Amino acid sequence: MNNRPIGVFDSGMGGLTVMRALMRRLPYESFVYLGDTARLPYGTKSRETVERYAVQASRALVARDVKMVVVACNTASVSLPAVEAALAPLPVIGVIGPGAEAAAKAAPSGRIAVIATEGTVNCGAYVHAIHARAPKAAVFQAACPLFVPIAEEGLTQGPIALAIAERYLGPLVARAKPNALLLGCTHYPVLRDVIRQAAGDVALVDSAETTAQAVAALLEEKDLSGRGTRAQTCAFLVTDAPDRFARVGEIFLGQPIAAGKVELVDLQ
Ligand code: DGL
Repeated sequence: MNNRPIGVFDSGMGGLTVMRALMRRLPYESFVYLGDTARLPYGTKSRETVERYAVQASRALVARDVKMVVVACNTASVSLPAVEAALAPLPVIGVIGPGAEAAAKAAPSGRIAVIATEGTVNCGAYVHAIHARAPKAAVFQAACPLFVPIAEEGLTQGPIALAIAERYLGPLVARAKPNALLLGCTHYPVLRDVIRQAAGDVALVDSAETTAQAVAALLEEKDLSGRGTRAQTCAFLVTDAPDRFARVGEIFLGQPIAAGKVELVDLQ
């Protein structure tokens, strides 16, 4: 039994969709969540910059005595090898591998569409990860940059969200004719309803759920499980604007976050 917390890191509040899945899946574990809100968004930044930020943020979690780090940001998961090297031998897990695994399983005929930030699309992280598991899969991608700000505005339903979803997904679905659509960005699960309406009859794959399953399996494998009698605790750290994090974060976590519980930290 290991009662140290699990560290969860994202560029901001979107990773709370992964945190939500982790909290549900692992009710006996405690968590420290770090949102790098001062430097959000990562999705439009270069790979080198995102790698530097991801390593800094992960080290800040290690300073909080975490037993494992979950890189809950799709864009930052591209930096997984650098984070692993910096934290070794601490276990580190990202969202790309579990998401790719689930997409490969959900599309036996091998037509998979991936939607993500520009950064994730440009580096082809999901394309490589899916091909590593299903070499014959046909993988199509589209960046959906407006999904991040509308999700943070709480515009998750209604005509504006649906029009944007149709604008992105109409051409993608026509071109790809996918069996599975992978939501390759932390913000997209809260837009699930409009994405489903715009994409039609296709299996939606959410990397948050599959990452939570992978974390549970890794805890067992490394004998790090916190299964005990203690109640679950969650600490929230941000690099800027704790009040906004608490307010907007509720959209992604699905439950209120008390503003007084969000701590401001400096990663420099
Ligand atoms: N967390 C990012 C991701 O999953 C989305 C927000 C950002 O661009 O920083 O790719």
